[in-house]
Amino acid sequence: MLTVSAPGKVILFGEHAVVYGEPALVGTIERRVRVGVRRLDEKVINVYSDAIGTWESFTFEDLHETNGAFRYVKRAVSIAFEEVGEKTGLELRISSELPPASGLGSSAAVSVATLKAVLTLLGKDVSNSRLAALAHCVELEVQGSASPTDTAAATYGGVLFVLPGKGIERLNVEEELPLIVGNTQKERSTKLLVAKVRRLKESLPEVVDPVIRNIGKVTREARRCLEKGELTHLGELMNINHGLLEALGVSTPELSRLVYIARSAGAEGAKLTGAGGGGCMLAFARERYDSVLEALSKESQALQASITFEGVRVEGGER
Ligand code: MEV
Repeated sequence: MLTVSAPGKVILFGEHAVVYGEPALVGTIERRVRVGVRRLDEKVINVYSDAIGTWESFTFEDLHETNGAFRYVKRAVSIAFEEVGEKTGLELRISSELPPASGLGSSAAVSVATLKAVLTLLGKDVSNSRLAALAHCVELEVQGSASPTDTAAATYGGVLFVLPGKGIERLNVEEELPLIVGNTQKERSTKLLVAKVRRLKESLPEVVDPVIRNIGKVTREARRCLEKGELTHLGELMNINHGLLEALGVSTPELSRLVYIARSAGAEGAKLTGAGGGGCMLAFARERYDSVLEALSKESQALQASITFEGVRVEGGER
């Protein structure tokens, strides 16, 4: 079985605003999704996921669907077939070190790893920029609205500055970023949260547009601080970003509680990460890393989120 993996991510700055053309800063974490694939003689796509714990079987026609637990997998396989100009029966096995629907990019990692696995199996070598673009199509089809942030992160790895429509830059971040994730363990839908912000923006454009533009300003300033190694302001910028996300209505009492627990335990900054509405928050703690980790572990499922610089990779196995 040919196996491909792709990393999860944390959005450091700019979620939601990036859907409206502002930049996002994203970093990949060493928690990966693995997709194994092999050919089958029958014209079916059999998929198993550790997280779901059951097999499902699809016909080639089913791959057009954008619903169901395997919606990202179905669209990714279908788009890979179109890219190659060939269809074949497949068995796919998915395992994930990422909690699903929590803001850590598991859907994007599944989309990228599935595409890369099927394309590689069928002998098609695509560039990372093509792969990221195809994976972005998967997210657009399934979610209706999506920025290229999560799929770019799962493809390239590292710390990326994503400016939709203008490009994706990989930043040279020399210093280790002391990050901790707190997970409320409340699953939520990115699609619904993006739609919620859109409704707010459409009903109150005069008020909401400046909030979105300010998130963009915070993100640009954070990039400058990161590149210059001026990490003192980074925490403050995270706190401001969280306040602006609260203004957009995507935080929850559970998320904000963890944010304040992290700050009280000594984090220089803390914010929700990803779409909000549940899922995860992120703390930046240079001086009191262990205390913040301990405080968040008591109140949530906490994990140390070290940045990885490796994106999608073929792990091996037979074609
Ligand atoms: C989700 O990880 C980030 C959002 O900004 C949506 C997107 O960028 O597509 C909320």
